[in-house]
Amino acid sequence: MKQILGFSKLSKDEKVEWLTQNYFKDSENATYLLKQYWNDDKKLQKLHDEFTENTISNYYLPFGVAPNFNINGEIYALPMAIEESSVIAAASNAAKFWGDKGGFKANVIDTRKVGQVHFLSSQNFPALEQFFNESKSLIFNRLQPLTKNMEKRGGGVLSLELRDKTSALANYYQIHAEFETLDAMGANFINSCLEEIAATLKEEAAKYFNASEDQQPLEIIMSILSNYVPNCIATAEVSCPVEDLLPNKEDAQHFAHKFIEAVNIAKAEPYRAVTHNKGIMNGIDAVVLATGNDFRAVEAGIHAYASRNGQYSSLTSAKVENGKFTFSIEIPLALGTVGGLTNLHPLVKLALEMLGNPSAKELMKIVAVAGLAQNFAAIKSLVTTGIQEGHMKMHLMNILNQFNASPSEKQEVKAHFKNNTVSHSAVVEVLEKLRNA
Ligand code: MEV
Repeated sequence: MKQILGFSKLSKDEKVEWLTQNYFKDSENATYLLKQYWNDDKKLQKLHDEFTENTISNYYLPFGVAPNFNINGEIYALPMAIEESSVIAAASNAAKFWGDKGGFKANVIDTRKVGQVHFLSSQNFPALEQFFNESKSLIFNRLQPLTKNMEKRGGGVLSLELRDKTSALANYYQIHAEFETLDAMGANFINSCLEEIAATLKEEAAKYFNASEDQQPLEIIMSILSNYVPNCIATAEVSCPVEDLLPNKEDAQHFAHKFIEAVNIAKAEPYRAVTHNKGIMNGIDAVVLATGNDFRAVEAGIHAYASRNGQYSSLTSAKVENGKFTFSIEIPLALGTVGGLTNLHPLVKLALEMLGNPSAKELMKIVAVAGLAQNFAAIKSLVTTGIQEGHMKMHLMNILNQFNASPSEKQEVKAHFKNNTVSHSAVVEVLEKLRNA
């Protein structure tokens, strides 16, 4: 295959043509499939085309809803964009389970976001520190045009700190900055501020250290926000007397014991912790995506937080104290409810309206609850029926759809598998029997 020059300049039709002619055996079918997902509403399609570059089609994910979430006394229906069967059913079950037990209590501990200017310098730390302290007020002045609107609303640059990182890497220093970006995720604001800080530092350092043109006292390497936000934290919790967990008191005690040990295993064992936290992310990502937030940033930050004590570990905790079962989560979340996709994508706007147009802080609480609920449902299944019972019910529907089963075929096959174990081959066998009868 030859490389193509100027691909981005081609029209959408031309891109599809080039792609399908060069990469597909049946280019006609590939073209048909890609165009099948184009939206007839030209304006809507243009909007989606322009979200990114080289758009050739739309990629659908199911947009579902998990109702009945009692969060701090308000009842929410959570919008969830996710392809994995049973995630929304599990979230809904957890919402129902906790709905009449006081619901979910959620909180935001702090909302400080982070950005860093990374630079190299052969100056020693005390010299740089003196320069930095003398330049700080000028840096804040230079930031004014960028920060004044954010400051009017109560946000802005919270702190700037020079950090000596030379024990990790030769000549490496950084400006570690903290920001309050209110309802915006704040990436553009933070990055613009950091670049201004870097430019000012470079300029002022040259004067301060009397540098010649070819011997700069500091070399700016890069300026970028951090997706690790350990001071932008949401928590969520559920609790109830142990005996309320299940109808039978002994079963309830046994359940609480197994549940807590399952969480403790995820605390102690990284192999389990990864899967445990993956289940949490099923709920978190689905709401983050539906509300137009950056799930990659959230994922990266949360997993780093799960390793903050030197070993990758569970994001949730469970305990029984004085006969009370408590299950909780603590996660870093940098989310926005204004700016970015939130103003542009019609379904994102709808998702936010479904949540009562929350502030970023409220959304942090909702997302933390989604993670906790998902984890509760997963562990509940794991320590009781096993995960496959619920999964296989959904899997059954997927297999039936794959084989284009009619509504009556679906009904009969589902009835058969009420008392039989679902497997791909067993479903196909039953369906074939039905069709040959
Ligand atoms: C599957 O997507 C998620 C689970 O594996 C999570 C868990 O094991 O806790 C069920």
